[in-house]
Amino acid sequence: MSINNEIYSRQAGGWWDENHFLHLLKTGINPPRFRYFHEALTSQLGRETRNLSVLDVGCGGGILSEEFARIGCRVTGIDPSVPSLETARQHAAAQGLPIDYRQASGESIPFETGAFDVVICCDVLEHVNDLEKTLREAARVLKPGGMLCYDTINRTAESRKANIFAAQDFPLTSFFPRNTHVWEKFITPDELLLLFDKSGFEHRDMTGLNSALPDLQVAGLLIRRKLGLLTFAELGRHLQFQTGGGMQASYLGWAVRNS
Ligand SMILES: C[S@@+](CC[C@H](N)C(=O)[O-])C[C@H]1O[C@@H](n2cnc3c(N)ncnc32)[C@H](O)[C@@H]1O
Repeated sequence: MSINNEIYSRQAGGWWDENHFLHLLKTGINPPRFRYFHEALTSQLGRETRNLSVLDVGCGGGILSEEFARIGCRVTGIDPSVPSLETARQHAAAQGLPIDYRQASGESIPFETGAFDVVICCDVLEHVNDLEKTLREAARVLKPGGMLCYDTINRTAESRKANIFAAQDFPLTSFFPRNTHVWEKFITPDELLLLFDKSGFEHRDMTGLNSALPDLQVAGLLIRRKLGLLTFAELGRHLQFQTGGGMQASYLGWAVRNS
């Protein structure tokens, strides 16, 4: 079964629409993941964010790119989807954020070696055609000591239940089109750690990214959204995603480019 990355071109108008499933990223997982990366960057790596050069690989509509731009970073976003980039450009312009968006894939990043202080690969690693090539490219364009921020989905029975069955297949709860995610492309933490090692990264931290609610309550919210009682923006907020805890479904972390 192959992943349907065409969604990001066909539905590119949805990134900033509170009634669209792509907006779940904005109100659901974006707040906790950005807090986590910001804390790692400033407190643990001790970096000043103003003027840091950041590359957002697979930036989509720019949801995370804009957060980094707002704290003073010089942000470049790349994505294969031209319509998503157009949405990202228009939104950034309306916010007065000077983000440079370009069409490219993670497997072939069109920038010089050592060009960036930070590379972001969020909700992207499980979408690319060649994971190892993407990580090697991310390492190549990072300065030595530069930071890689990522989040992705584990390949477990739990992620099959939550991210495939509930999110895509079961009519009462589903919100993603089929094949938005493909279970076989999910990545276990051990596989990722091995690839980081091979690609020139020193891994620093990894933790879960989960709803704070019990499964039954999550199911109830998904059904209320399906009945039109909640927008996707509201659903994202109600799910109360947080970092920490188990890594059976989504997880995130960061690594540093070896010197
Ligand atoms: C789930 S979205 C994540 C968007 C954004 N990173 C975020 O978290 O808000 C996945 C994105 O990966 C992009 N993508 C798919 N294949 C890719 C590739 N080979 N290289 C880079 N990005 C890719 C898609 O076009 C889409 O915008």
